[in-house]
Amino acid sequence: MSVAALVLAAGRGERLGASVPKAFVLLAGKPLLVHSLEALAESVSLDWLVPVVARADLGRFTSLGDSMNAIQGVTKPVVGGDERQDSVRAGLAALPEDVEWVAVHDAARPLVRPEDVERVIAAARSQGAAILATPVRDTIKRVRDGQIQETPPRAECYAAQTPQVFRVELLRKAVEKAAADGYRGTDDAELVERLGISVTVVEGHGSNLKVTDREDLEIAERLLAQRAAGGELR
Ligand code: C5P
Repeated sequence: MSVAALVLAAGRGERLGASVPKAFVLLAGKPLLVHSLEALAESVSLDWLVPVVARADLGRFTSLGDSMNAIQGVTKPVVGGDERQDSVRAGLAALPEDVEWVAVHDAARPLVRPEDVERVIAAARSQGAAILATPVRDTIKRVRDGQIQETPPRAECYAAQTPQVFRVELLRKAVEKAAADGYRGTDDAELVERLGISVTVVEGHGSNLKVTDREDLEIAERLLAQRAAGGELR
């Protein structure tokens, strides 16, 4: 029953305004991708960590050299696609046959806590599919053309994070159906939901932020420093 993580690092991340793609931007002197892989490597349930990188970044990945070799379970990189969903598809196609469960993780979430990775994998194993998510603090509005269309009850609203964990066969089916329908989702669970399959939510931690802009990078630096000092704020 082996479990693999697809670690998605093939995006450009232009909002960060860096000279290198987002996954290779340094946080406390180390690329976001390396942080993410190191955090996942601490999870005892993951057998393989599969980096998914853009073809143009294969050289960059290779030059990580020793820091990559030191991380348990990291495989050769898989070349990603134009959009996140294409990168997931490429990663799934490259998984060895005996992999039964897959945890999809954004390399742009460098601070994921190993205990949360364990919890979401355990939930998927008992329920079939599970994601990390946090309850939202703000009231969410669905807006079109500047006008509110709907206000979903806040107590029912969660912000989806990664890892998102599924049986490999289930995610393959979901991704293939989305491709056949020309449907583009913004996370993996959405594609599984379209099959009418229920996905369990495991409450994650606010520190598992997705680094999108400079401010996020500064917040991540502060969170890392707090962790190093033995404490962590939500
Ligand atoms: O762009 P966004 O921040 O939503 O990307 C989330 C994650 O998906 C990032 O870690 C990014 O590198 C990855 N991604 C990818 N392939 C793409 C686009 C995004 O692997 N084509």
